Amino acid sequence: MKVLIVGSGGREHAIAWKVAQSPMVEKLYCAPGNGGIAQVAECVNIGVMDFDGLTGFAKEKEIDLTIIGPDDPLAAGAADAFEAAGLRVFGPRKNAAILEASKAFSKDLMKKYHIPTAAYETFDSPEKALAYVETADMPIVLKADGLALGKGVLICGTREEAREGVRSLMMDKQFGSAGDRIVVEEFMTGREVSVLSFVDGKTIKVMTSAQDHKRAKDGDKGLNTGGMGTFSPSPFYTEEVDEFCKKHIFQPTVDAMREEGREFKGIIFFGLMLTEKGPKVLEYNARFGDPETQVVLPRMKNDLVEVFEACIDGTLDQVELEFEDNAAVCVVLASDGYPEHYEKGLPITGLDEFQDKEGYYVFHAGSRFDGEGRVVTNGGRVLGVTAVGQDLKEARARAYKATEWIHFDNKYMRHDIGKAIDEA
Ligand code: AMP
Ligand code: GLY
Repeated sequence: MKVLIVGSGGREHAIAWKVAQSPMVEKLYCAPGNGGIAQVAECVNIGVMDFDGLTGFAKEKEIDLTIIGPDDPLAAGAADAFEAAGLRVFGPRKNAAILEASKAFSKDLMKKYHIPTAAYETFDSPEKALAYVETADMPIVLKADGLALGKGVLICGTREEAREGVRSLMMDKQFGSAGDRIVVEEFMTGREVSVLSFVDGKTIKVMTSAQDHKRAKDGDKGLNTGGMGTFSPSPFYTEEVDEFCKKHIFQPTVDAMREEGREFKGIIFFGLMLTEKGPKVLEYNARFGDPETQVVLPRMKNDLVEVFEACIDGTLDQVELEFEDNAAVCVVLASDGYPEHYEKGLPITGLDEFQDKEGYYVFHAGSRFDGEGRVVTNGGRVLGVTAVGQDLKEARARAYKATEWIHFDNKYMRHDIGKAIDEA
């Protein structure tokens, strides 16, 4: 079959790498792709929001299956556009992608269906939000309602920070219209875990767990980023936690969406906080995580295309997901200055080192060919260097070793990805 992947990040590189292994796939395209994806797929220069361009291409090439990677096109109805054109697509429709696209929607859903999450209030006006923070307990969490590249969450330790936060989200529009409405939420403490799952509308099958490191600097300091590194599995996600989540969070979420007439088919990514009072939902995403995918898919035994097909056909109950009994660590190599100001176009060397080494992967997040056959940096997060090992310690040592093979000016990484596992 012919497959098209929509997206251009490290997540899409990991998906493309895994999809390319399926014996069912004869031809793989990616729109728009990047310098690494070009090694496993033919990249076509169509933007992720250009639905006419994408569906036109899919029709012309007789694509059998399209997989939508990022949140923005899903929230804007990319899956609906493919379905309307009579094309097979993996990813939730717009009315289901709202699970991620509106934090107010997801919080109200959780409240209505008694799914454990932090207490919250929603505000459409900055005056009311400002009045609320005057009497609320600190610290407090402010969240832009809409999509903000994973950066629309402000954790405010003091009342002054909270006032400042409301102003920047709602009045200065730091994240544009995503901040027209905000959710103000109770601050929770505990371990964070990411759990990705496949959903076919009624059945949910969870993948292995992972943990992201969202802050830019070692020791969880610095600004929030799209993610600086991940490890899988999380030793804190025990069988007991898994059992609780399946009963009180995972299936109830799928059932709630169906009940609301918003049948969800695709990936639900549960961002969980393991609090003293049990696991609670931090957020939902309606897509694979980035860089969680880079540590989850290398451990997955199933043919990914078969699982996508089962989700679309509503036959996921017949699929048994299987993961290797090993571990993986992904260290993101960024351009110094990310997530604020950084240079692009810097030549990358050392990529060939990965070619014949089993268990080592370099997933490209922001790279491109410069026209002279060189791969150059093309984003804040540049590469996701991933290694598997027998356990987390081995995977981590290998991943950090592999980061040394890569060179580019302004190369920046965190040095404590997976350090938390020492405490487990
Ligand atoms: P989100 O995009 O909602 O996952 O938020 C980004 C990050 O902010 C999360 O990964 C958490 O580290 C943190 N965060 C979000 N909500 C809360 C909360 N209610 N309490 C504590 N930390 C939070
Ligand atoms: N790694 C977090 C996310 O994909 O949103």
